[in-house]
Amino acid sequence: MILVTGATGLVGSHLLYELLSKGEKVKALKRQSSDTNRVLKTLGYYTGEPENLFSGIEWINGDVTDRESLDPAFLDVDKVYHAAGMISMDPADRAEMARINIEGTANIVNLCVEKKIRKLCHVSSVAAFGHRVPPVVVDENVSWKAGTHKLTYRVTKFNAEMEVWRGMAEGLEAVIVNPSIIIGPGDWRKGSPAMFDRVAKGLKFYTHGVTGYVDVRDVAKAMILLMESSEKEEHFILNSENLSFQELFEMIAIELNKPVPSIAATRFMTGLAWRLDYARKKLLGGTSLITREAVASAHKETLYSNEKVRKALGIDFIPIRESVMNTVRCYCESGAKKAEGGRRKAEGTRRKAQDARHKAEGKK
Ligand SMILES: NC(=O)c1ccc[n+]([C@@H]2O[C@H](COP(=O)([O-])OP(=O)(O)OC[C@H]3O[C@@H](n4cnc5c(N)ncnc54)[C@H](OP(=O)(O)O)[C@@H]3O)[C@@H](O)[C@H]2O)c1
Repeated sequence: MILVTGATGLVGSHLLYELLSKGEKVKALKRQSSDTNRVLKTLGYYTGEPENLFSGIEWINGDVTDRESLDPAFLDVDKVYHAAGMISMDPADRAEMARINIEGTANIVNLCVEKKIRKLCHVSSVAAFGHRVPPVVVDENVSWKAGTHKLTYRVTKFNAEMEVWRGMAEGLEAVIVNPSIIIGPGDWRKGSPAMFDRVAKGLKFYTHGVTGYVDVRDVAKAMILLMESSEKEEHFILNSENLSFQELFEMIAIELNKPVPSIAATRFMTGLAWRLDYARKKLLGGTSLITREAVASAHKETLYSNEKVRKALGIDFIPIRESVMNTVRCYCESGAKKAEGGRRKAEGTRRKAQDARHKAEGKK
């Protein structure tokens, strides 16, 4: 029996789809407050009869920060995929994020050791490689470099990974994956899926920052292949392509048939934006909309290598344009009806853009 934590999330729900499609028996961890309908929705993006797969999931309530609550989840389990985690660039979330990412992972690792779990796959992030000074190509050999800030997302992911390495030193068989920004359908209000909603609602700005992107279906498949392989005590970057935010937003806008973001946001503009947002939050309350950490990431140029995992598993990654097309299809199916018409028109817009590019190339 397999246990998946973070089952209602972007990675977890796609992992459930892949595992259930293979006929695996799966237990899925959820919090009391979790919305399992999100999983049904994700399954529905890929199969006409999602209820059939959904009914095969054994849901277990538990919270990774509450060690005692996790015992029932580990009953009769021999493999664990740990995809529960919190992603936030808001300083107000730091304490909770540290508890979920670091203490939560420590609890999972301790239970894996105690219950003699056969193998663990932990979802880390490229953020766990720390603060890099560009230009640099990050591979699995780079060592951790801390930035100036304490308990940011990257620090919590690094410390979570350290808990897994500690577990391996205690005899646990485990692999770690380090995905770049994951593209796929999920909760359109947060995380990477929110980029699609922002562009759909008319995003005007872009930055020149460069980072890596990977399709969520590749993340799920690579995790399963690694679990089924003899690989252990290794970490693997999962990355398809390195792109600028401008390139990514343009792809999304074209697929959605929305105007392409056309104003380059300078460091001065984004610096002003997070300071104004900080002042607004101090004066009026509410949550942060733009944070200093998010702004810094938007301007950074970091490239990621996927050579190690391609060699180990003999896999190729889905091109990001295809990931964007799949995610836009799901965005339209998810109830954003207005976008449906746009989706059909997008085919025409994309073809026109391609024709223009081919013409320009022909002239050179
Ligand atoms: N998305 C990306 O671009 C990206 C890139 C690299 C790495 N990652 C890593 O991938 C992992 C999964 O990310 P995601 O994108 O799937 O995130 P997500 O969509 O926000 O899902 C997070 C999952 O974790 C669960 N969770 C959060 N706190 C929990 C707790 N205290 N106890 C039990 N479950 C808890 C959530 O449950 P609820 O439904 O109850 O909230 C949800 O199922 C994270 O570790 C993240 O750091 C993500």
